[in-house]
Amino acid sequence: MLNVGVIGLGEVAQVVHLPVLQSLPELFSVQAGCDISPTLVKEVGARFGIPQTYLSATAMIEAGGLDAVLVLNSDEYHAECVVTAMEHGLHVLVEKPMCLSPREAERIIETRDRTGLTVMVGYMRRFAPAFVEAKELLPTLGGVNFARVHDVIGRNQLIVDQTSYVVRPADLTEAQMHERWDRGSALVRDAIGDVGGELAGAYRLLCGLGSHDFSAMRELLGRPSGVAAARMWKQGGYIAALLDYPGFVVSYETGVDEQLRFDAHLEVYGDLASLRIQYDTPYVRHLPTTLTIDETSGDALKKTVIRPHLKDPYTHELEYFHACVVEGRAPKTTPEDFAEDLDLFAELVRVLGTR
Ligand SMILES: NC(=O)c1ccc[n+]([C@@H]2O[C@H](COP(=O)([O-])OP(=O)(O)OC[C@H]3O[C@@H](n4cnc5c(N)ncnc54)[C@H](O)[C@@H]3O)[C@@H](O)[C@H]2O)c1
Repeated sequence: MLNVGVIGLGEVAQVVHLPVLQSLPELFSVQAGCDISPTLVKEVGARFGIPQTYLSATAMIEAGGLDAVLVLNSDEYHAECVVTAMEHGLHVLVEKPMCLSPREAERIIETRDRTGLTVMVGYMRRFAPAFVEAKELLPTLGGVNFARVHDVIGRNQLIVDQTSYVVRPADLTEAQMHERWDRGSALVRDAIGDVGGELAGAYRLLCGLGSHDFSAMRELLGRPSGVAAARMWKQGGYIAALLDYPGFVVSYETGVDEQLRFDAHLEVYGDLASLRIQYDTPYVRHLPTTLTIDETSGDALKKTVIRPHLKDPYTHELEYFHACVVEGRAPKTTPEDFAEDLDLFAELVRVLGTR
């Protein structure tokens, strides 16, 4: 069993990771948690029975007694926490985006190589059984003619407010919030230059939501050779792009609105059949991810819908993380794998900026 510490006790920790960790008592024991919000540390610590709580990640890590940490705090602090944890001998599962700049990614990779520890990026959609099965079925589609990667969702809080109890802190200071914004701006500048607010917003949307889409697309279809065209609107809140592959194009579309709907899917159209992986909101656990296969059979079009398993992708992801740590094997969602997404986002933003 791994003794774990949780860095960041916000929305996703409360709705997803802490309940999932509790559902896997043979694999994980949550020994510590930290957040910069005293309210969260007190209330979430008590609610989930976390034995030791701290107001800083460094204090939690230095206190010892842990095998691994889950990094679930704000994006701007991921790299710092990942590196500090590894410097103290801890394995790491870090939520996406692993970091915001290539320089941070290099630092994480260098520390991982020096310490020999496991660092895994929390791309849970790639652990959904429907996704794994789709990958296995892909060669049966024949040549790929076209694919769509679609992620248009309602704001998370609309769904969370209907289905979960979440403590939202009101005790973060102005100084803490400004430090976070300034840090985020500096990291985006380091990654893509001084591009202005709209392009910087598009880059953050890609790092936040788009990283799920791009990483799943890369695992399924490989890395695109380039970005053929891209547009953004609504201050960088919506993006559409055409991504070049040898012999076909992928249409990518994303945005966040105020509808109580979560529609994320990857659809691949082949010569012999097409398949579609359909994700629902991850904030309501165990909502199925489905795989639909359309194929022509004689005069008929046959549609098969598969729900391979009811277990949610986060549980599969955490089981996989545990196996990687105890067996000493590299995860498929490595820091290098994440760095490919950052690279593609920079290219997409460059194309967006040429309009
Ligand atoms: N895989 C997924 O499906 C998924 C879903 C939601 C969020 N996420 C990721 O999880 C992370 C957290 O998202 P969230 O929605 O819970 O955000 P949130 O703002 O609700 O929670 C983040 C928490 O981190 C705390 N924090 C900020 N800086 C800190 C620091 N230096 N040390 C310790 N704590 C600090 C904040 O006080 C806050 O409570 C983000 O990186 C996000 O991209 C992933």
